[in-house]
Amino acid sequence: MRHDFRTVSLIVGLWLGCGHAALGADKQPTAEEVRFFETSIRPLLVERCVKCHGPDEQSGGLRLDSLAAMLEGGASGPAIVPGQPGKSLLIKAVGQQDKLKMPKKGKLTEQQIADLSKWVSMGAPYPAAAAVTAIDIDKGRQFWAFQPPVTPAIPVVKDDKWAKSPLDHFTLAKLEAKGLRPAPQADKRTLIRRATFDLIGLPPTPQEIDAFVADDSAEAFAKVVDRLLASPQYGERWGRHWLDVARYADSNGLDENIAHGNAWRYRDYVVAAFSKDKPYDQFVLEQLAGDLLPNAAKETGRHERLIATGFLALGPKVLAEVDEKKMEMDIIDEQIDTVGRAFLGLTLGCARCHDHKFDPIPTEDYYALAGIFKSTRAMENFRKIARWWENAIATAEDRDRVALYSLAGAFEKIPAAVPSAMGVTEGHVSDAQIHVRGSHLKLGKAVPRHVPRVLARGEEPTFDDRQSGRLQLADWLVRPDHPLTSRVMVNRIWRWHFGQGIVRSTDNFGMLGERPCDPELLDWLAMQFVEKKWSVKAMHRLIMLSSTYQMSSAYDLKAAEIDPENRLRWRADVRRLEAEEIRDSLLAVGDLLDTTMGGSLLQVKNREFFFDHTSKDTTRYDSHRRAIYLPVVRNHVYDLFQLFDFPDPAVTTGDRATTTVAPQALFMMNSDLVSEVSESMAAKVLKSEKDDADRVQRLYRKAYGRAATAKEVERGLAHVKEVESALEGKESDAAKRRVRAWASLCHLIVAANEFIYVR
Ligand code: HEC
Ligand code: HEC
Repeated sequence: MRHDFRTVSLIVGLWLGCGHAALGADKQPTAEEVRFFETSIRPLLVERCVKCHGPDEQSGGLRLDSLAAMLEGGASGPAIVPGQPGKSLLIKAVGQQDKLKMPKKGKLTEQQIADLSKWVSMGAPYPAAAAVTAIDIDKGRQFWAFQPPVTPAIPVVKDDKWAKSPLDHFTLAKLEAKGLRPAPQADKRTLIRRATFDLIGLPPTPQEIDAFVADDSAEAFAKVVDRLLASPQYGERWGRHWLDVARYADSNGLDENIAHGNAWRYRDYVVAAFSKDKPYDQFVLEQLAGDLLPNAAKETGRHERLIATGFLALGPKVLAEVDEKKMEMDIIDEQIDTVGRAFLGLTLGCARCHDHKFDPIPTEDYYALAGIFKSTRAMENFRKIARWWENAIATAEDRDRVALYSLAGAFEKIPAAVPSAMGVTEGHVSDAQIHVRGSHLKLGKAVPRHVPRVLARGEEPTFDDRQSGRLQLADWLVRPDHPLTSRVMVNRIWRWHFGQGIVRSTDNFGMLGERPCDPELLDWLAMQFVEKKWSVKAMHRLIMLSSTYQMSSAYDLKAAEIDPENRLRWRADVRRLEAEEIRDSLLAVGDLLDTTMGGSLLQVKNREFFFDHTSKDTTRYDSHRRAIYLPVVRNHVYDLFQLFDFPDPAVTTGDRATTTVAPQALFMMNSDLVSEVSESMAAKVLKSEKDDADRVQRLYRKAYGRAATAKEVERGLAHVKEVESALEGKESDAAKRRVRAWASLCHLIVAANEFIYVR
């Protein structure tokens, strides 16, 4: 994602290279910034300002149709000062506090003003104009991502002893071509720690490590992988990855940040789907069209499929939008955009107002898809505050109970008694009309529902007027020869294992995305995925049992010079744990983790506001359940999550960032959670070992999965002594002094880098 624009300027040369003065010559807008600009800023300027400040008229000597012009400004000087909304005339003008009041007639909405101000604070990122050409679908089809994958030949390598699987041939061939060698195999402790975090997001226990180290059989590692894949905690870890893609949240976000009180059912469905190894094609079908699939035999199966459609329902919505038609189209847009990014790796949303400027997706294709979602019911009503649709998932028991209430006349209690799940159902089936420049007030011709033409190869699905077409769309997506579905998913899996995708822009396989560093490998994996019946667990085995996965992270000067970003994969990348892993591991080593699965931890009811007018959010995060069960509140994500790069839960994210900032270290030093964990570790270690040196050993094994060196034991014991004597004047109880001193050592151990980095 982040690299989209940088790459394109190098590879495609689409950019004119102007308009980035404000950001400095080396800083192109990120994909996120471009998305914000293109959806929130440019349309606003075009609609409300450019008439008087553009090519035809330059009122006040000012043009607002390029960044250069804004920086130059009009009669009164620059219109904006990047980074400083307070000093920007344009922001003052739209705020209408002073004499200059813009636009001339009317006032922008609070949201629009806030967006403009945010944009200036961001440094006024402004993507330069594209070299626009008419879309040529046939030519577009030649782009690699729009061609179906083909089984590549397995490359011949010199050192075929190293290769454990065909996958390794791909890795090694690329390395050999550059005269490089793969790093040696990682030692067993490193390997089990890496694999355990990878698959269940927790550290291995000392017992698990010992068992693996002691097992000399050839299948020792395969056994570890299988054990982890069978663990219920596997679904929690990999389900969470998918929730990033599904922009999962327990609140709506935006202005009406009310509770998605039933979103957790979708979350639990995802966890179970990964645990059960639900074939990915089925997973896609259920999320897009679970309500339309032939009835499952059991009621629980039917409910599961209704819950799965929560995928389409979870997006942020402007629930107080005055214009109902606009609200409806905005919701449809969010669905199209998410489906595009999640399953196709395409930014379909860019074709809402104009033909996609980069990919061969004309506006007509966008409205062809819009017809499918317009024919789908996602809302119960559009009144203010509008209500999203929920499918009833009542069991026979619930139904009886509800019948048990109506006799008593207690109608108001009924809704609470019937469980329901966010999701969609069929609506009034019709095609959508083109919205000229994205405006629902300027309607063009109706477009028959169809799939994007650049991806259609002969047997496209047909859409009739009996159904919305979601099922046909989903069926088409999971065709074995679909150019994108399998590739996008295997690339996600690869990214979640290795930290970088074969295509690094996991959610954008289009022209602005990156090119695959190894297209043959990507295709081979995609073909394997389909051949193995879309089994995600089969892909884990395929990847993890390769020599490629099992390399150590040893550094190599020559390799680093030739391939500094490790794109060829000459060693394992060291990775920092993700937010949830950090928290869960802390609780795990403190023996505090509550492994209860599923259910809701929300303290507010469905559709209730998270915070009142005082903006005080009282959501609690002190549960000891796994992090995946903590509430995800849009615009107000839990501090710890925020600190360690939890993604924006309003948009699809397949490639989380890893930043290093000072407050992370402060968190590890000062937070209540880390103190609580340290105290728990200390209490336990004081009870369970006889000898102090053994105690240090035990702590190292628990936290880092390895023995402490003699030096570390010595230093650890010295630290305990030092703290104990420092406490002498302050704490009269010797036993308490001792616990506190050990807690201090535990704190040092978990706050060290070794705890949160996996090699
Ligand atoms: C209907 C015409 C019209 C529209 C629409 C309009 N402006 Fe203006 N703008 C003017 C005129 C005329 C002036 C000259 C000052 C005056 O007459 O108030 C001006 C002046 C300005 C100035 C000060 C220029 C200078 O250097 O003195 C800024 C900044 C500005 N407009 C921003 C905007 C923005 C932002 C929008 C859109 C949100 C907008 N204007 C929409 C007519 C318009
Ligand atoms: C809500 C409407 C809307 C959406 C969505 C939108 N744009 Fe735009 N875009 C505009 C408008 C309005 C213009 C002004 C030029 C025009 O009238 O075509 C524009 C212009 C552009 C230009 C300059 C093109 C040129 O001809 O100079 C680029 C590049 C662009 N958009 C890219 C994108 C990308 C990439 C996305 C998706 C991330 C996107 N747009 C989404 C409304 C939109």
